[in-house]
Amino acid sequence: MELQFLGHACFLLDDGAYQVLTDPFLTGNPLAAANTEEVEADFILVTHGHSDHVGDAAAISRRTDAPICCTVDLADAVFAPAGLPVQGGNLGGWFSTPFGSVKIVPALHGSGVPGCLSCGFLLEMGGKKIYHAGDTALISDMALLAEENIDVALLPIGDFYTMGPADALRAVKMIRPKLTIPMHYNTFPAIVQDPDAFAASVQAAGFQARVLRPGESLSV
Ligand code: NI
Ligand code: MN
Repeated sequence: MELQFLGHACFLLDDGAYQVLTDPFLTGNPLAAANTEEVEADFILVTHGHSDHVGDAAAISRRTDAPICCTVDLADAVFAPAGLPVQGGNLGGWFSTPFGSVKIVPALHGSGVPGCLSCGFLLEMGGKKIYHAGDTALISDMALLAEENIDVALLPIGDFYTMGPADALRAVKMIRPKLTIPMHYNTFPAIVQDPDAFAASVQAAGFQARVLRPGESLSV
């Protein structure tokens, strides 16, 4: 499994056969490490309707024919009416895809679209279990994820819109992932954080963390 950070909450997950893109906010993101015209995707996962998460999902889906995976409410409200291929599920449920299984998990955050909920994703892909938290506050539901034996947790640390570094560290202690990668920081002045200090705090607590600079990849 290759995992590339493209900035903000956007990752490209590649198991050698499929490429899964998350929250593709590239246009207008000063730290984006890819562009909408070139990034590859077989599937696009969108956690909620805020513009820094929907981003370029529609344009990339149109170019690549990648289905957009999100809650069924967001699919019905935003993507299906635009004629885009969608795969909708809902909180607590797994759905199957050619690359593996995806579970939509709770996140506590506004959705940006009336009637819709924000979510995170648990992915089984390439023999690994990856948790993309989306935008979220610290929630005690995260403790349930400890039983999932998560290999990689992608957690927001920006504060202001989501949990900050201190709560993200509390999340790590509940989730107990093998590796934590911070996201959703430094894109805007309101969410400037020191990801290396966060990673050091995670390591001091006995867990592994890795900071990926935009564009950087990691084999997991
Ligand atoms: Ni948001
Ligand atoms: Mn956000």
